[in-house]
Amino acid sequence: MTVRIAPSILSADFAALGQAVAAAERGGADLIHIDVMDGHFVPNLTMGPPVVRSLSRIARVPLDVHLMIEEPDRYLEEFVRAGAAMISVHAEVLPHLHRTLQAIKELGAKAGVALNPSTPVGALEEIAGDVDHVLVMSVNPGFGGRTFIPRTESKIQAVRALLDRQGSSAPIEVDGGIDATNAARVVQAGATILVAGNSIFGTGDPERATRELRAAATRKAGV
Ligand code: DX5
Ligand code: ZN
Repeated sequence: MTVRIAPSILSADFAALGQAVAAAERGGADLIHIDVMDGHFVPNLTMGPPVVRSLSRIARVPLDVHLMIEEPDRYLEEFVRAGAAMISVHAEVLPHLHRTLQAIKELGAKAGVALNPSTPVGALEEIAGDVDHVLVMSVNPGFGGRTFIPRTESKIQAVRALLDRQGSSAPIEVDGGIDATNAARVVQAGATILVAGNSIFGTGDPERATRELRAAATRKAGV
């Protein structure tokens, strides 16, 4: 099993995003995670397609776009055109989730479903066969630097079991409060994509922090 590290630029210096991405890539980042917030679904505003477009010109790894917005359908095409390789949408805002996932895939990107901490695993029951990945939120979305919710571990296990039951090998991405102290545990639970903002860009050396997070995730988990 390969663990992928997805540094979230939410905690980077927005005046120097290019350098932030380059540092994370030198440290071995597999993806760059981009948090899009609209001030409605979550109480914060961040960035949109122009930032994705600029980063796609300099990033050497795929861009993983996490849409924390109320009407993602309106913007899917723009994000894919801007360079998003993976798009995660929140189950909580989508009455027609199946249609949205198909739309992302038709545009040529990987389609993921994100679940808030309070959203039951069962929300995936009818859609498991259609997801390219599942993003399990381990904090309430909206801000970086929050504390990991311990119950996430058993939730990841339950998501993995549900996917396996339905014959899906879609990877699980875990997002929020991930650092060297809990990385191995979430990997053991079944997550293979680790998003980390504060524990990478909140340090003075994101290159090293990226490398150390991977080491912590894999060494202690024995993978
Ligand atoms: C939270 C975002 C996360 C966030 C993670 O709403 O979805 O991607 O950037 O940051 P940390 O790792 O600092 O919790
Ligand atoms: Zn995110």
